[in-house]
Amino acid sequence: MARPVVLCTRKFPPAVEARLARDYDARLDVDDRVIDGSELLKLAEGCDALMIASSTKLTAQAIGALPKSVKIAASFAVGYEHVDVAAAKKRGLIVTNTPEVLTDATAEIAMLCILGAARRAWEAEHMVRTGNWKGWATTQLLGVGLNGKRLGIYGMGRIGQGVAKRARGFDMTIHYCNRTRLSPDLELGATYHARIDDMLPHCDVLSINAPASPETHHFLNAERIARMPDGAIVVNTARGTLVDDTALISALRSGKVRAAGLDVFENEPNLNKEYLTVENAFLLPHIGSATVETRDAMGFRCLDNLDAYFAGREPPHRVA
Ligand code: 8YV
Repeated sequence: MARPVVLCTRKFPPAVEARLARDYDARLDVDDRVIDGSELLKLAEGCDALMIASSTKLTAQAIGALPKSVKIAASFAVGYEHVDVAAAKKRGLIVTNTPEVLTDATAEIAMLCILGAARRAWEAEHMVRTGNWKGWATTQLLGVGLNGKRLGIYGMGRIGQGVAKRARGFDMTIHYCNRTRLSPDLELGATYHARIDDMLPHCDVLSINAPASPETHHFLNAERIARMPDGAIVVNTARGTLVDDTALISALRSGKVRAAGLDVFENEPNLNKEYLTVENAFLLPHIGSATVETRDAMGFRCLDNLDAYFAGREPPHRVA
């Protein structure tokens, strides 16, 4: 029997591509180009499945124009705002994501962003690398400690809870804002706020861990920043669209926000260039899930979903 044809719209880790090539008629993206738009539709001709990343936008238009042969799209990401889920359901296109396997890696990057912002990691490294370190001084590059500080987590799903777990190890006090309150065994003494406006005054550090949606778009704007304590820290490892960049940059310049640690940006990779001019921003290129273990696990999760579908079973991580 002919093997299902899978079009890959990005290059995937070697172990993932090896399994793809073993089990499928895999059309690998050897050059790691972003395959999207009209090129996607052309290359998808004769394919049974897509394996995509968040760089491939499955808009309603794209989904409507996909060849009939394409029955499933396995997305190599936990977030799925790049897929029009309603349009996929209407067309009968199955879409899967990769939950759980990137929780730890992303929570680790959130801690790196918290520490990088609080302890001025970029400024410090830059001083060393540019030969501007003239020696130790008692007041050089003073940051702020985390011990006893309040961490407010916006979005207390798996990753938010992973950040809380790690931050407890730094003796931070946890506040969180989530649509639903967690059960006591998951809340572990954290203070629940049903409304973000109520949590912000308690955030010495704010960690953004909520998904992108019309409701969360630019939730962190000038008014909300004004509600935070003076000198607070803002960390975003979720999606750039949750932050109004102009407002955050202005607050970084004024010192209202002491520092920011950002792994994600609106309109990646074309981030607001003003970020490059503020020294109190610690900036990373969306590496939340970028560990060997996690990226392999994300790919295997995609393949588990494809395997289930082609074996006539329900894919375990369906979002549409
Ligand atoms: C992915 C992510 O690496 O899984 C997600 O939602 O944000 C990232 O960690 C990226 O989206 C790849 O598609």
